[in-house]
Amino acid sequence: MFLGLDVGTSGVKAVLEDEAGVLVASAARPLSLSHPQPLWSEQDPDHWVEAVFGAVDDLARTHPRETAAVRGIGLSGQMHGATLLGRDGRPLRPAILWNDGRSQAECAELERRCPELHAIAGNLAMPGFTAPKLVWVAKHEPEIFAEVAKVLLPKAYVRYRLSGEMAEDMSDAAGTLWLDVGARRWSQTLLAATGLDLGHMPRLVEGNERSAVLSRELTQRWGMGADVVIAGGAGDNAASAIGLGAITPGDAFLSLGTSGVLFRVTDRFAPAPEAAVHAFCHALGGLWHQMGVMLSAAASLSWLARILDTPEATLLAPLGTRVARPSPVQFLPYLDGERTPHNDAHAAGALVGLRSAADRGDLVQAVLEGVAFASRDMLAALGRSDQPIAALDLVGGGSRSLLWAQIMADVLGVTVHRVEEGEVGAAIGASRLGRLAATGAAPADVCRKPRRLQSFEPRAAQRAAYDDAYVRWRKLYPALKECIS
Ligand code: XUL
Repeated sequence: MFLGLDVGTSGVKAVLEDEAGVLVASAARPLSLSHPQPLWSEQDPDHWVEAVFGAVDDLARTHPRETAAVRGIGLSGQMHGATLLGRDGRPLRPAILWNDGRSQAECAELERRCPELHAIAGNLAMPGFTAPKLVWVAKHEPEIFAEVAKVLLPKAYVRYRLSGEMAEDMSDAAGTLWLDVGARRWSQTLLAATGLDLGHMPRLVEGNERSAVLSRELTQRWGMGADVVIAGGAGDNAASAIGLGAITPGDAFLSLGTSGVLFRVTDRFAPAPEAAVHAFCHALGGLWHQMGVMLSAAASLSWLARILDTPEATLLAPLGTRVARPSPVQFLPYLDGERTPHNDAHAAGALVGLRSAADRGDLVQAVLEGVAFASRDMLAALGRSDQPIAALDLVGGGSRSLLWAQIMADVLGVTVHRVEEGEVGAAIGASRLGRLAATGAAPADVCRKPRRLQSFEPRAAQRAAYDDAYVRWRKLYPALKECIS
């Protein structure tokens, strides 16, 4: 039996998979975010640990026999979060998360200090990444910076609390801006630009390698045997890729979680920083990936549901599973700023084209379409390659909506597949990495593609109408930039 643990932003998921790769049980615990100031986004690292321990406690209660049989654990986690530990291994402040936009000025500072940054890290300095957050702490909280003994990412902090070991996998490490992504090792040049050195970093492992063993106290708490192996694991997007069997160059998927991610596997380090494309390591040695990242995907629909005080399902139901034409209203989904393609932490959202005839359905449709148009921007950014994307698996909470899947196919002009277990993909990817580390099995035997539930083809008439609507939508950000940035 193998256990996958996904430390997300809105919650933790734990899944148990059996030796045949069948999902046996799952448990979830919610997490909340705190926004103490505009653009800030933080979480208490100990809440991740409580939620993870609580979710495994739930599995041990509902499935004691299966939980006791666990021999490999894999971790997946929200990327980039700066978890600053003092000499005693305790967090010095709340973690600064991937969707925190406070460090835009420090990004410019970092790029000035280190002209080789794009070549080594393969990415623009963006406020979401870890390094600029440390430059911000050094400037604004120097007394805390002076105390920093280790910087961990969210799932590495959870690993530390599961095992006492400080280690990080390559896919997550690539999102720090301290990794030499092509060479898969920490870069002393990049660390020095942030006032840090190798001593501040955890040990590096590949995602399918053994990184630690579960502490005795926890094996006893959950009734497990000795020597439960913990794999390196992966950042949540690379973990989703493992869950989807996306391990062959050219494989691609679109994830509609809190953030939106367009992910493509590459056989080499393929940076494209000019379009704010992320170029990171994959969770398996010898593979890399590219990603476009938008900060508010399913989060845009949750926002609308919250301000209308109406559940998402109630908002979506009257629209059915297909719309005939684009909404007369357009929506920019930059509620928390944007990465790909604008790299603008200060960007804000907008609803444009409102008339007195506009109704609730027009707004709901506008939000779904705004996220689809922003996904088309990501497709264009990733499109600058010799491996064009012709089909995409759709995963994440947003993949529940058949309507959104059809809008995506119409707007992107590619076939969109809904797949089995698409909502827990990262946790399943994590448990697969746990299996690989515990058994030494070959990745191709374990990372199989999930069953397709439904496929959505672009519809010719709607595609043409959406092409026109996209051309108009594309003009909004530059036209409004002065008002919304
Ligand atoms: C990726 C990113 C997000 C988080 C969400 O660069 O910032 O997808 O990983 O958990």
